[in-house]
Amino acid sequence: MTDRPPRRFWGIVPAAGIGRRMGAELPKQYLEIRGKPVLQHTLERLLAVEVFSAVVVAVAAQDRAWPHLACAGHPRIRTAPGGPERADSVLAALRALEASAAPDDWVLVHDAARPCITGADVLKLIHTLADDPVGGLLALPVSDTLKAVESGAVAETVDRGRIWRALTPQMFRYGALLHALEDAARQRRPVTDEASAIELQGLRPRIVEGRPDNIKITRPEDLPLAAFYLERQCYE
Ligand code: CTP
Ligand code: MG
Repeated sequence: MTDRPPRRFWGIVPAAGIGRRMGAELPKQYLEIRGKPVLQHTLERLLAVEVFSAVVVAVAAQDRAWPHLACAGHPRIRTAPGGPERADSVLAALRALEASAAPDDWVLVHDAARPCITGADVLKLIHTLADDPVGGLLALPVSDTLKAVESGAVAETVDRGRIWRALTPQMFRYGALLHALEDAARQRRPVTDEASAIELQGLRPRIVEGRPDNIKITRPEDLPLAAFYLERQCYE
């Protein structure tokens, strides 16, 4: 039997959005929670898991705040230029790994705007999918009753049993994800997460139930909520 080299893990953090729905002066990843920028929380959480050979952060060209972030000089942090859509930013980060990553290495893509990610959830994703041929994502079953709406009125009640909310990290093989995102870009198919690109290849990403406190900071009211979760996690 030949020894295969151990499979490596790479982190990718798209952080090149402008935070339109937040409506703040700074992009939301630089707003402070409990004395630290959101992005600093997110990167500290990922680096603490200690599985990543490197974490590539996609940073917008006009971003002046990045160099001042405490994590910016960390030896396991690299950067790539962000693009106009989230998928473009992720693609740029994947390309930045071209000389380092092998096609079978795992890549975990995690939103900069999700600072409450726990090491336990990252490890749960990694351990659940370790032998999976495709990969998958953290997700949450919905708890509200769901309505499909047309012209301001209910068209039908949707079967909630089959609906999950996609979170991040999303974990796929380097080669497969690069190919899937390049294909989606070539076909001009909009993809709002990595799983959608993999699905367009006819593959079925696995679902791993994540924690409900892994929220994506989107609107102003999410900031105090994230602060509450971060504080509470300190006592777990
Ligand atoms: N993102 C990115 N490049 C883009 C757009 C988004 O790297 N062109 C990143 C964001 O920085 C964020 C993650 O993708 O960490 C999720 O996107 P979202 O929550 O939509 O952030 P924004 O696009 O910044 O917010 P909005 O849609 O309200 O403008
Ligand atoms: Mg957006």
